[in-house]
Amino acid sequence: MNATAAIGVTGLGVMGRNLARNFARNGCTVAVHNRTAGRTRALIEVYGDEGTFVPAESPEEFVAALERPRRLMIMVQAGEATDAVIDEFAPLLEPGDIIIDGGNAHFADTRRREAALRERGIHFVGTGVSGGEEGALEGPSIMVGGSAEAYDVLGPMFETISAKVGGEPCAAHIGSDGAGHFVKMVHNGIEYADMQLIAEAYDLLRQVAGYTPAEIADVFRRWNEGRLGSYLIEITAEVLAHTDPETGGPFVDIVADAAGQKGTGRWTVQTALDLASPVTAIAQATFARAASGQRDLRAAYAGLPGGTRPPLSRTEAERFTSQVEHALYASKVIAYDQGWKMIQDAAAEYGWKIDLGTVARIWRGGCIIRASFLDRIRAAYAFDRDLVSLLGEMEFAMEITDAQVPWREIIASAARRGIPVPAFSAALAHYDTLRADRLPAALLQGQRDYFGAHTYQRVDRPGTFHTVWTAPGRPETTT
Ligand SMILES: NC(=O)c1ccc[n+]([C@@H]2O[C@H](COP(=O)([O-])OP(=O)(O)OC[C@H]3O[C@@H](n4cnc5c(N)ncnc54)[C@H](OP(=O)(O)O)[C@@H]3O)[C@@H](O)[C@H]2O)c1
Repeated sequence: MNATAAIGVTGLGVMGRNLARNFARNGCTVAVHNRTAGRTRALIEVYGDEGTFVPAESPEEFVAALERPRRLMIMVQAGEATDAVIDEFAPLLEPGDIIIDGGNAHFADTRRREAALRERGIHFVGTGVSGGEEGALEGPSIMVGGSAEAYDVLGPMFETISAKVGGEPCAAHIGSDGAGHFVKMVHNGIEYADMQLIAEAYDLLRQVAGYTPAEIADVFRRWNEGRLGSYLIEITAEVLAHTDPETGGPFVDIVADAAGQKGTGRWTVQTALDLASPVTAIAQATFARAASGQRDLRAAYAGLPGGTRPPLSRTEAERFTSQVEHALYASKVIAYDQGWKMIQDAAAEYGWKIDLGTVARIWRGGCIIRASFLDRIRAAYAFDRDLVSLLGEMEFAMEITDAQVPWREIIASAARRGIPVPAFSAALAHYDTLRADRLPAALLQGQRDYFGAHTYQRVDRPGTFHTVWTAPGRPETTT
């Protein structure tokens, strides 16, 4: 077989098939392979005229179809399936060839695989692909890890098939080894927080303002025209406006209120704990999903007392809606800031050089959290590459200042009425924690020293100290 394919895709499920079609539609010759050959044949049969495909039934045939350096993209389930496919193909490759893993791998697995394949001279490029089925076909957001050398070869192809915003591609080299998959993971964590915040805003508008789902859909449509403008706000309006054809009632009322979660949100929280990175809004959003699914526990709590308040008048409801907009926006800024800080913490831990403005740039299109305000995040990091927090940027800081009263009132009002707003509350508590002059962590240090001689630092002189709590007079020692 002549080596004519610029890239090969193995694993032609939902994502792999659509990515292969996207490459072909953009003029790449694509070799296609799948464990079950029927899928390969089906792709050629249905979509074969969209571009130039080279179908391959065996791994050998597939590899032989690839131009050098060979570019082989794996689109299978993360975990064992990915390892199995790597083990099958790596022996057929040569030094300089490139394996791309476009699945949702855990970044630690990507680091392990990259190190092992590097020993054999093979580039392993862990690549986060966001946008689901439609994005894979029409233009995803692509977060590429691995070596800069591999990106020199792959970059133009990825940039061609990615989403574009203002003519700019939503694909970039994020950093070495697992950086691409790490950033994809954090993207999904932020997505969890954003969705939960929107859901809490809906709940407040329904329960406190007394609006119907159709009226709330209109509120979200209006918000979508402003600073909250985003894909998630847009689809929220669509979901709320939808009526169930069977009952004629709001669709949102016939859906069971137990949310599922896939691995990446959970991984974000687990990893954040390892990095001591306080992504509290993301964590609360993840736990809120978990709590929603605890049917037995919810049944045990059902009927217990909570707050009550009379419903709002129409005029009060309008004012309340504008307060919710402030609270949602401020909480969203905090949640995104937590995500960016987590990326900075990981970059320091793993030695990645990540351009944070680039992350904002490639999330403006193709992915689930695409939003107009990412332009401003990008600009903030372009202005100051070492910005520690978005709140260090003047405009964001001013918006958060303006949100103070409504943000606090909304959360207080939810607490008085017994409506849970875990993500709103976590975002505000994070803000208050970081701006505080003194934190009660000082007392924790005292407790830790008391029961475990963990020692402490003093504010008035350097050194490490321990109080001998059991001795008369409790003398202080230095260590
Ligand atoms: N779906 C999404 O929205 C989305 C978005 C971003 C990323 N991803 C990630 O993209 C990857 C693919 O997802 P998908 O939705 O396309 O999955 P899918 O539709 O379930 O397809 C899975 C593919 O993996 C192959 N496969 C599974 N185990 C294998 C093994 N041991 N050896 C060889 N091939 C094996 C299957 O081959 P057979 O046909 O032989 O079974 C099939 O082609 C996953 O890592 C997923 O997390 C998905």
